[in-house]
This record gives sequence, C-alpha cells and structure tokens, in this order.
Amino acid sequence: MAKNRTSFVCQSCGAVSNRWAGRCESCAEWNTIAEEALPEVIPKGMTGGKKGRRIEFVSLADSARSIYPRYNTGIAEFDRVLGGGLVPGSAILIGGDPGIGKSTLLLQAVCALSKTGVHCVYVSGEESVDQVRMRAGRLGLEKTPVALASATNVRDILASVDSAGERAVQLLVIDSIQTMFVDNIESAPGTVSQVRTSAQEIIRHAKAKNMAVIFVGHVTKDGQIAGPRVLEHMVDTVLHFEGDRSHHFRILRGVKNRFGPTDEIGVFEMAGEGLAEVENPSALFLSQRNGEVSGSAVLAALEGTRPMLVEVQALVAPSTLGSPRRSVIGWDPNRLAMILAVLETRCGLQISGCDVFLNIAGGIRINEPAADLAVAAALVSALQNTALPAETVFFGEIGLAGEVRRVAQADLRLKEAAKLGFREAIIPKNKKKGEKVALPNIRTQELEHVQDLANLFLERRGVKACAG
Ligand code: TYD
Ligand code: MG
Repeated sequence: MAKNRTSFVCQSCGAVSNRWAGRCESCAEWNTIAEEALPEVIPKGMTGGKKGRRIEFVSLADSARSIYPRYNTGIAEFDRVLGGGLVPGSAILIGGDPGIGKSTLLLQAVCALSKTGVHCVYVSGEESVDQVRMRAGRLGLEKTPVALASATNVRDILASVDSAGERAVQLLVIDSIQTMFVDNIESAPGTVSQVRTSAQEIIRHAKAKNMAVIFVGHVTKDGQIAGPRVLEHMVDTVLHFEGDRSHHFRILRGVKNRFGPTDEIGVFEMAGEGLAEVENPSALFLSQRNGEVSGSAVLAALEGTRPMLVEVQALVAPSTLGSPRRSVIGWDPNRLAMILAVLETRCGLQISGCDVFLNIAGGIRINEPAADLAVAAALVSALQNTALPAETVFFGEIGLAGEVRRVAQADLRLKEAAKLGFREAIIPKNKKKGEKVALPNIRTQELEHVQDLANLFLERRGVKACAG
C-alpha cells in the first residue's frame, strides 16, 4: 500500500518544499505556505482508485447558437476594451492605483447597463451606501435602478444575490476583492488566502448562475494586482486602469482577455461629472504642442487596434556630471540608451557628454518599438537645436546596426496622421512588394538607415555637420 504523503505549497507562487516556513523562500511572501496532500503514488503494474465517470462530448459547432449575446454598456471605450461588451457569466478584474477612478468607472458602467434592462448589483466593501449614492448624485445617475449594498461577507453577499428580486442578477460588482472575507478562514480580509477563497467562491457561484462579476483589485506599489497571482488566472479578463494623477486622462488597458483582444485601450477624461469618453485621443495629446520648438517629434503610435498620435519631447544639454543624466518619462530607459548608442556609433553624433531628457507628453506610456524613429528624430532635432518640419509624423523601429525596420499597421497610422492634418510621414522602407502604403493626402518619405534621418534634416535646413 502506498503511503499518503503531504508537502508544503506556497499559495502565492506555487513553490513546493518539504517543511513549513513562515516565509516562502522563493517569492518572499509571508504566511502563504500551506500543507497539501500529494496524490497517492501508485506502484507500476497496479491500478488504484475508482474508474472515472463518462462525460458527454459535444460538437464544437453548435448551429443553434451562432451568436453569443453580450451586454453593451453604451460606454464605447469600456465595451471595446472588453472585446465588444460584457460576456454573460464572465469574471473581470480591474486593477489600478487608489483614487484613479475605478469605483467611478464601474458605477457609471453599472448605471448605463441597468438602464438597458440588465439586472445589476453593486456591492461596496469600502464605502457606505450613502457615499455611493452621493457619488451617483454627483455623476447625475441617482435615478437608476441599481441594487446597492455595503457588505464584506462573501456568503452573505451570495445568499442575498440569489434572493434579490424575482429576476436573476446578471451583473455583480465587488468593490473591492481585498475587503471581502469568507468566515471559515481565520486570516484578515486582504490576505492571500482570503482574497483567493473569496474570489473562488464568488466566481464559482457566478459561473453556475451565468452572472457576470466585476472585481475591483488594489495594486501594490509596483503596479501588480495585490494578492495572489492565481487571482489573475481565475478570472476571464484582467484590465488595468491607469493614468497619471496630475493629468486628467485615464487609460483602461486590457491585459488578459479570454473573450476578445488584449492590448486594446479605452481613453477617458476625468471631469467634474465623472469619466468622459475621449473619442479622439490624438487631438487631446497634441493639443498643447508647439511645433516651432526643437526636440519635438510626433509619433504615430498604435495601441491595440487603435492608432494614436503623441508628442515625443527630447532635451539634450551639456552635462557637468561625470556620468551624464538619462531621464525618461513614458518610455523604456533601456531603449533610449540603445537609440543613443546607435546615434553615436552609426551616425557619428556626439551625445555621450550630454544630459538627455525624454518625455512622452501628456503622461501617456508608450511601449512599442515603433517609437524608435520618432525618439531618434527628437534627439537629433534637440542636438542640432533645429525644429523638425511641422506636420510630419514618424514611426519605425531602429535596429542595432542602425537599420530602420518595418512596423505593423503602417496604413492605420498614416490614416490617423492624415485625418489630423499631417502632410508628411517619415517611415521605414517597405520591402514587401505590393504593400506600398500610399494615401492621397499624405506624403511618405521612406528611410533605410538612421543616417538618412540625420542627413534628411541637415539637407533640408542647410545645417552643416552634426553638432557636438
Ligand atoms: P474613485 O473612483 O473613488 O477611485 P478608486 O475607486 O480608483 O480609488 O475616484 C476618486 C477620484 O476621482 C477622486 O480623486 C476624485 C475624482 N473624481 C472626479 O474628479 N470627478 C468625479 O465626478 C468623481 C466621482 C471623482
Ligand atoms: Mg474605490
């Protein structure tokens, strides 16, 4: 007879050890190690346990239900990030810094949904019912038929949801999962085991009842959703609500989505009456641009399926420091270091003795390598102290050899630039045949090497050799 064995598993990272410890050696989390029984080891040649029950297989093609309904909130930016509306029975987690507007966004979404006839329940573990009402009043939404409660006990909430009115609840909002607790676990709300168990119970219940759930999740200092990583695996969709609190716009970003594309973003503006959708973010990000200044280049970026124009600002100043400063806001510092090295070695520009500051205006964060060419253009312009031609956009990736590489969706980027009145685009050379992007009202200048970029502006402005 094989012996039943147990081992100790960290509930946060899943590391397995032979003995219990207060702190996991692998992820350094406290109080996450629990004893778990390992499956019985069956000696070779023996079979053990019961035979499994037969399950029914069904065909993937279900002709009767070719279209699955979704709930549309009518807030287009929100629906787009969800992949075209809320899927019934799905679980969604929204993370974000405190005060960024998660509760405001969800209250607005829930009110909009309930107006379309979806039965919604909003449970707040952080605010009292009156506080939620006050917020709704401020948003002009006090007359919507949303069922409100202030509660933190998961079992109470689920029992109440089951008996809330004659119609089944279709959407449950839990603000926030860190305040919820299940009473048979001793640890305090917000601890790993409480968060995990509460979420598990709610999701299991919701899937059985085909009710959608939206959880608000707090984030830690480094922007991760607090609590166990498994929380992100349990839900169908993870969204991050981000923004700079000193700026008034906010971005809802899809991080994981089982029912739609990720990388999709929704742009909102925080106003006195709540969050307003921003239909044309490019215009917002470029609204304060001064095209006459050196070191400013416009990047045609792509966020998900959405083209967006943003301004890249660079400043290059002589340094008095032994190791000059490199300061970046809104972009990857490692990529800046790479572009600087490429400009020095491949174009002969002298930058190593200068402080370099780079800023993506408006407080937005750009992650894609397509920004390389715009960054290089801003840097060259700052270094030469000459403004780039107005009405010109840039995009393209730069390789270590200084080659300018193609990026995805050039036509979408060009269309957006043309729509906003840009007349010229400086882009990578299109080597693939038949893929030449040509639009009637925008001229394209194709580059093969960053040296061409430096030369282009030298020629145009009649500036002599590189500064430095
Ligand atoms: P909130 O939704 O409470 O943030 P979270 O739930 O993410 O912690 O948002 C609070 C912030 O939003 C607060 O700083 C004030 C601001 N706000 C407005 O500017 N206008 C409004 O209409 C509302 C309701 C909030
Ligand atoms: Mg809140």
